[in-house]
Amino acid sequence: MARICCGPLHTLALLTSVLLIMVLKDKNLSFAFFPSAAEWQHSSNISYRSVEFRKNLSSDVNVSAGPRTHTSLVRGQCGVAVESRISCGRDRSLSRADCEGRGCCYVPLPRSGLGGPPWCFYPVRYPGYKMGPLLPTEKGQRATLARSAPSYLPRDIPTLQLDVMPETLGRLHLTLKDPASPRYEVPFVTSQSRGQKDIQNPLYDVDFQPDPFGFIVRRKSNGRVLLNTTIGPLLFADQYLQLSSSMASSVISGLGEHYTPITLDLNWTSVSLWNRDMAPHRNANLYGSHPFFLVQEGDGQAHGVFLLNSNAMEVFLQPAPALTWATVGGILDFYIFLGPSPQSVVQQYHEVIGYPMMPPYWSLGFHLCRWGYTSTNRTRTVVQLMRQAKIPLDVQWNDLDYADRRRVFTFDPQRFGDLPQMVEEFHQLGMKYVLILDPGISSASPPGSYKPFDDGLKRGVFIKNSTGQILIGKVWPGPTAFPDFTNPTTQDWWMDCIRVFHSKVPVDGLWIDMNEPSNFVEGSVDGCPDSDLEKPPYTPGVIGGQLNSGTLCVSAQQYLSSHYNLHNLYGLTEAIATHRALLKVKSTRPFVLSRSSFPGLGRFSAHWTGDVRSDWEQLRFSIPGVLLFGLYGVPLVGADVCGFGGDTTEELCVRWTQLGAFYPLMRNHNDRPNAPQEPYVFSQQAQDAMRTVITLRYSLLPFLYTLFHHTHTSSRTVARPLFLEFPTDPNCQTIDRQFLWGASLLISPVLEEGALEVTAYLPPGTWYSLNNGEACYSKGQYFLFPAPLDTINVHVREGSIIPQQAPALTTTASRRNPFTLIVALSVGNWAEGELFWDDGESLDTFERGNYSYVLFFAEESYVVSKPVKLNGCLDGLVLGEVRVFGVQAPPTAVWANGKKVHVFSYSPDTKVLTVPGLDLPMTAMITVKWS
Ligand code: GLC
Repeated sequence: MARICCGPLHTLALLTSVLLIMVLKDKNLSFAFFPSAAEWQHSSNISYRSVEFRKNLSSDVNVSAGPRTHTSLVRGQCGVAVESRISCGRDRSLSRADCEGRGCCYVPLPRSGLGGPPWCFYPVRYPGYKMGPLLPTEKGQRATLARSAPSYLPRDIPTLQLDVMPETLGRLHLTLKDPASPRYEVPFVTSQSRGQKDIQNPLYDVDFQPDPFGFIVRRKSNGRVLLNTTIGPLLFADQYLQLSSSMASSVISGLGEHYTPITLDLNWTSVSLWNRDMAPHRNANLYGSHPFFLVQEGDGQAHGVFLLNSNAMEVFLQPAPALTWATVGGILDFYIFLGPSPQSVVQQYHEVIGYPMMPPYWSLGFHLCRWGYTSTNRTRTVVQLMRQAKIPLDVQWNDLDYADRRRVFTFDPQRFGDLPQMVEEFHQLGMKYVLILDPGISSASPPGSYKPFDDGLKRGVFIKNSTGQILIGKVWPGPTAFPDFTNPTTQDWWMDCIRVFHSKVPVDGLWIDMNEPSNFVEGSVDGCPDSDLEKPPYTPGVIGGQLNSGTLCVSAQQYLSSHYNLHNLYGLTEAIATHRALLKVKSTRPFVLSRSSFPGLGRFSAHWTGDVRSDWEQLRFSIPGVLLFGLYGVPLVGADVCGFGGDTTEELCVRWTQLGAFYPLMRNHNDRPNAPQEPYVFSQQAQDAMRTVITLRYSLLPFLYTLFHHTHTSSRTVARPLFLEFPTDPNCQTIDRQFLWGASLLISPVLEEGALEVTAYLPPGTWYSLNNGEACYSKGQYFLFPAPLDTINVHVREGSIIPQQAPALTTTASRRNPFTLIVALSVGNWAEGELFWDDGESLDTFERGNYSYVLFFAEESYVVSKPVKLNGCLDGLVLGEVRVFGVQAPPTAVWANGKKVHVFSYSPDTKVLTVPGLDLPMTAMITVKWS
């Protein structure tokens, strides 16, 4: 029998990573710029110094007012290391005269193509805001910042209010706003912040440089500088806010949504955050905005930064390592999370934006969709063919095809006339049904013929243009108006529309697409006014070059503010409204799938990564795409399996189905003109491979569901990058071709055409093949595993117990099947696991105590299943089988609950003990023993 576990491939990997970290640390040291101690104000809740003392400190400091010219720049002030130059010409390319007119340094470099270090950059201590004394407030401390001379930007805010709020042990909150007149602040996101309020001994220290203003946040335990904003000026004008900061390492993840690996490239790159209907490709702002990043500090510790700002922004990354936030409005509202583990950074972030919703169990099954299922009969046939092929399918979808003239809340009377009946039939099969719901409401139907528009008009729910008329754009149905979901009246109207539609077509979930919002004309059918909002002094580098490109005029008016401020929240607010409507209409857990996203989306909705192409590169980049959304608090996420755009090939579709079986959300979806890609259209061999892996997913759903319970209650991630689980292993820092489910399952898919083997990293320890239980011992090495077309490599981590359930064609059926326990013994002969179980769809089952909870543990030669909470939902369910991996000595006898078991098997090759044919109620304690 061929061994699947071969020798290490990359023994040099560890050494390389250690060297890299040393270099990074070195860079850090040489880069950090520390003025003399006397110029600093120190702030933390345990080490406040007296205000008088600080007053003295700040008045000691001598400032030269106003921008200096080149001639007055002291030699050395321009002696900034090239990698640390912060561009002074962000708004346009500056000539020497313009640059020096701003008081900046102009030092040309040999051109090396586009990008690279700036020629015009800020000198050391470029004049900016001067900070007054820090005074205590209820929440922390406050200081006033003032400019003594204007900056080069139009409409400077001359005085700012700084609030420093140590909120929890690991969370520092810092805001900068205009005390004179309130500016737009992001609504909806932080309404329910949690976290341990004990801040007696926080993990951070903060120091302030009063003039020019800047701050440094350090990790108290080791003094490491996490953020140092004195490396560049704070700029705060009406339409341009900028802050730069050093970073503690170059290993940073986040700032989505972009088509990137799991860590960002800091080689003079930038990412723009402006929600946009754009098929995933490099260097483009995509559907969502997540101004959050996590930094791996190199020694296993990590921290995170969240800028709660929804305006168009661009974040500039440079090799110092450093970054510069540049946003065109709002306030600067920073949260800094100290971890110290990467997983705790994610949790601390989610304490601010909210823990993810608990999805309905059925939504973890397989979903099938396509644009082009042109009638109910066609859709029925798809379901029939899936059942004939014996491939599990929980959720059948329809795209726009169902709608009468593409108008939402209608269905085509000819082709979809019996839609309600079809949905009933699917329900009879134990399946669910979801359809698409775009936000654009057709505005061109004759009055009286399309109620959603007529009612919406009456109730004033639509976004208006800058002169107060309803803004009309163009989407699938032609001319459309856009609901303003920030308006409570709109939320009620939306609920009414959904209620009426649902009373005819009892959908189980809604797919909210095109909600960036997407618009096929620039701004509106009448164009956009020529204003500062449409053309701000500085426009981030967005696709189309203008903020209104592919969306609404940003000068459009919404209930809470201008579209300029609220644009990035459009999808989130639609998700909130849709979730709320489904909650009321159905009284079960809502299922919403949103394309556009913003922090907080995961409380209401799932996400898919949009219009990915059917090719190998997009398959590969779907992994970081999915993993990053876990960091963003949207764990129920997947890419369109087999790709949406272009024709798939059989091999690609098999490999994508194998990977997709391990996306938290698994949906195969295809665009109209493409070759079909439902599993049953392929060869028998391909169908077998797809059936095998979808069935495997179904058998693992109890485990996946338990992971979702944990993400809902404590924000532990579901699909998890390796660095989150193995933070001190330098090899894991950037791995994004493999990932974990929770802490225990390692997935290593094939991502290359023609490959029949996969190179996979196994962190130190014993890993068992989920397929046959064979052990692989790793010192932290790469291995080469066979991966024929019918195989995806999945390894179980030693010490874990994975609850499985016999698969079926739907979760309705599989949820009644016997459980299996996979017990992966550790070297020390123990293992543990758990099962969260409820009815799979009722609301707040955890919060109301309507669930069962079973703990599993194994030691030496027995495994125990122990219910610690029962509520009835496990009644009638049995444990059918136990498989123990890593049993070193062949057992001669096995007992289940004290009775001798006659049928069991042991493989001396793989060291797997299998005890089938059990029939033991899950509601009682179970012991399976061997000797
Ligand atoms: C958008 C969606 C895609 C959908 C299509 C038609 O492109 O991203 O998934 O099929 O619109 O509704």
